[in-house]
Amino acid sequence: MTIERRKADHIRINLDEDVGFDRLTVGFENYRFIHQALPELDLNSIDLTTQLFGKALKAPVLISSMTGGTEQAQQINVNLAQAAQQYGVAMGLGSQRAGIARPETADTFKVRHIAPDILLFANVGAVQFNYGFDVEHCCEAVEMIQADALILHLNPLQEAVQPEGDVNFAGLAQKIEAVCKRLPVPVIAKEVGWGISEQAARMLAEAGVSAIDVAGSGGTSWSQVEMFRAPDDLHRRVAAAFRDWGIPTIESIQMVKRAAPHLPIIASGGIRSGIDIAKAIALGASIGGMAGPFLKAATISAEAVAETLEETIRVLRIAMFAAGAGDIAALQQTPLVVVG
Ligand SMILES: Cc1cc2nc3c(=O)[nH]c(=O)nc-3n(C[C@H](O)[C@H](O)[C@H](O)COP(=O)(O)O)c2cc1C
Repeated sequence: MTIERRKADHIRINLDEDVGFDRLTVGFENYRFIHQALPELDLNSIDLTTQLFGKALKAPVLISSMTGGTEQAQQINVNLAQAAQQYGVAMGLGSQRAGIARPETADTFKVRHIAPDILLFANVGAVQFNYGFDVEHCCEAVEMIQADALILHLNPLQEAVQPEGDVNFAGLAQKIEAVCKRLPVPVIAKEVGWGISEQAARMLAEAGVSAIDVAGSGGTSWSQVEMFRAPDDLHRRVAAAFRDWGIPTIESIQMVKRAAPHLPIIASGGIRSGIDIAKAIALGASIGGMAGPFLKAATISAEAVAETLEETIRVLRIAMFAAGAGDIAALQQTPLVVVG
């Protein structure tokens, strides 16, 4: 199976099938802000701006890594980038292995000409370091899209339930460390929907990553995506067994905070509103990312992506207002009440 075919399958399945977790949730419903009837703030003066890796964001929002490698993926990336530039938020491209293996597909990842000012992340699977990738390939991925940082995604479970998966995850920490030392841009370690544990965060911090994206469970379930792609019943049943596996996003944020208190945390995995982003930041994250909700919008138009961003940011602004937090620094200090 070609990488292009797999990417096309991923988009189709994410759009058409129920790829959510079953009983497991992200955990945000267990926390609430203390409502402030007298916030002593002007809604229109709430300051959502922040910085990551020295680059300014107009709001603490990331369009999480998704795609590239096919014609449809290119249109999706163009729509995402146009809206990201308009709203001054960060964006990640999907895994660039296809663009490196087949340079003729590299254009499908390139959005810098559309989004000259945004914080832009390249993306490579860390497991590829056991399958021929090295720091040169990482540099190539960064240069291909003129990225500000490189995401190394960690997806052991996704690879394990795929018939064609790359499953040798042995000895990766050392290889990640070598890349962190030699790459001229910051390295972000990221899961794809099962969360980062305290132990993993400690190893990643020691390896020298500059940030961690928890990509916890509760949103898009990649074992479900792989279940819908499975070639036979056996593979389907094996993938289905993991529908509720993983560390819920809210728990993973707190685990990473304990293990690596100095590292910026990107909260993602099942974030579905500006209130979720506000809660993630109050618990220690720097910004919040979403993938699934932006994919659907991006298949329609750049305007649809912009509307999703507008709604997310408006809800975030109102949540900060009603919780009495005038800016992101204040939001990070705002207590949450545990419900129940
Ligand atoms: C269609 C699609 C493709 C994705 N491809 C990648 C990828 O190439 N690299 C990566 O790090 N994460 C990838 N992800 C994972 C997302 O970045 C994100 O971590 C995950 O979907 C959880 O976020 P969500 O619940 O908001 O969708 C992909 C997600 C979707 C929906």
